[in-house]
Amino acid sequence: MYFGGDYNPEQWPEDVWLEDVRLMREAKVNLATVGVFSWARLEPSAGVCDFGWLDRVMDLLHDNDIQVNLATPTACPPPWFGLAHPDAMPVRADGTRLTHGSRDTYCVNAPAYRVASRRIATALAERYGAHPATAMWHVHNEYGTTCHCDHCATAFRAWLRDRHKSLDALNDAWTTAFWSQHYSAWEQIMPPRTTQYRSNPAHLLDYRRFCSDALLSHYREQRDILRVHGRQPVTTNYVMAGWTPLDHWKWSAEVDLVGIDHYTDEPGDGGLAQVAFAADLARSWARGKPWLLMEQGVAAMYVPDGTLPLEPGEHTRRSLEYVARGATGVLHFQWRASQGGAEQWHQGMVPHAGADSRVFREIADLGRTLSALPPAEPAEAEVAILWDDEAAWALRNPALPVAGLDFRASVEQVHRGLWQRGLATDFVHPSHDISRYRVVLMPSLYLISDEAVANLTAYVEGGGALIVSYFSGIADPDTRVRLGGYPGALRDLLGVRVEEFRPLTGPVALSDGTAGAFWSESVQLTGATATVTYADGGPAVTWHQVGAGAAWYVSTKLDASGLANVLAQAGL
Ligand code: GLA
Repeated sequence: MYFGGDYNPEQWPEDVWLEDVRLMREAKVNLATVGVFSWARLEPSAGVCDFGWLDRVMDLLHDNDIQVNLATPTACPPPWFGLAHPDAMPVRADGTRLTHGSRDTYCVNAPAYRVASRRIATALAERYGAHPATAMWHVHNEYGTTCHCDHCATAFRAWLRDRHKSLDALNDAWTTAFWSQHYSAWEQIMPPRTTQYRSNPAHLLDYRRFCSDALLSHYREQRDILRVHGRQPVTTNYVMAGWTPLDHWKWSAEVDLVGIDHYTDEPGDGGLAQVAFAADLARSWARGKPWLLMEQGVAAMYVPDGTLPLEPGEHTRRSLEYVARGATGVLHFQWRASQGGAEQWHQGMVPHAGADSRVFREIADLGRTLSALPPAEPAEAEVAILWDDEAAWALRNPALPVAGLDFRASVEQVHRGLWQRGLATDFVHPSHDISRYRVVLMPSLYLISDEAVANLTAYVEGGGALIVSYFSGIADPDTRVRLGGYPGALRDLLGVRVEEFRPLTGPVALSDGTAGAFWSESVQLTGATATVTYADGGPAVTWHQVGAGAAWYVSTKLDASGLANVLAQAGL
């Protein structure tokens, strides 16, 4: 069981390092993530490296039985890099080119950035690949930075050629007949830069897919360099936020273990539900590989624009919940709270007050507790929720029937309902083999492929229970609406047909005594039976027997009791 966090010794004089390792030992820290933001110290000018300080840190940690999760520092290019290669600084959709002065100032498609990334990764791999402290490689930090520059435009076009093969196919997939967007040469296609009015949703979706692949190629390049010089597992840390353009199923096949950074923003039970959600996702993405909580806040919630302290003991409880759900370690951002810099007000395992503090005492207690725990065997889940980043991105389309349709929010609500009932839950991709689950839930999975529909149909025919909620199965993989009545791809499986959506402005009473909210539909039964109705007698929840199984359709946003009723109908 790993315990520790980001350790940034370059921010401190060397005598503090001695206190650091003494306190790390006291708190049973056994893994320190080092070097995440150290590029400017490691390579003070182009091609000139200074490893002396890192040699001393690595030796010191090793002498104190603390292993190192050694980072490549490519998330934070030094000032000299941006000045030498202004074309490698990221460009926002509105054309603003950023300058150094913060972090994540790079374009992953800029050749100079790729050269510099390979150079520093190679130098680190050669020097520390055989160092006894190196236990793991942490490539980059929180991949997710996107750019809209001309390098990206070139790379995007190559990616599009590969995906669509011909301009005709692209024009068709993107419905460029709308608003005179027909492309007659590849060179006319740009990243989705700021434009006069709404952008084309298919263009936006392909750009996110492209960004995921472009970032992944940067990761792979470094991983392969690191593997030449060391045998340690290689990974990176995912941001658990809705904005990241990462296809987590695809990425997780490329990492040796899944690492997540997770910052809660609710107190009490809400925070515990968030922990369960993130942990279940990480374990599911890992698909049998280990997973690790690479960062969490230290005894704090991250609310918009700041942090709030957790109650005494809450941090420990949350940390243990990650472990119970399969985490092979609990790490934090960061070891020692910074004195200055942009994150000087983020709590540290050693706070500004020093080790004589409530926070450090709780951290040290947690470290001792974890050091005595064997890894947990998470309960085998009988329930799964469908998770697809592409479907989530498609629902970030700025022009949907109404605002507020949000894949992740719908998934979290359903997950929380299962969590409140004490049901162990996995996440699965719609194309995975799901036959072992008793019940599979599909909350607002807007976009779906024909292959995934066939997979889900086979699951139900074979005896599975599928619960589909509103605004699922609406679009094809190019975000085109599936015609003939909603929910296009799932009409036959669900035995319903919907001609019109009826979004709600307030709650509506349902026949089972619960309430629907946000969304409703005029549902026609084409084989299904209504199990819950709206006040006008129209079907709100339906049930359809298919082969040896059944599929439910939920046409509104149910409250907790309404969801519990449907889960009970499905045998949970
Ligand atoms: C992320 C980053 C860290 C730090 C924390 C806290 O997880 O990886 O470097 O910025 O957030 O904000």
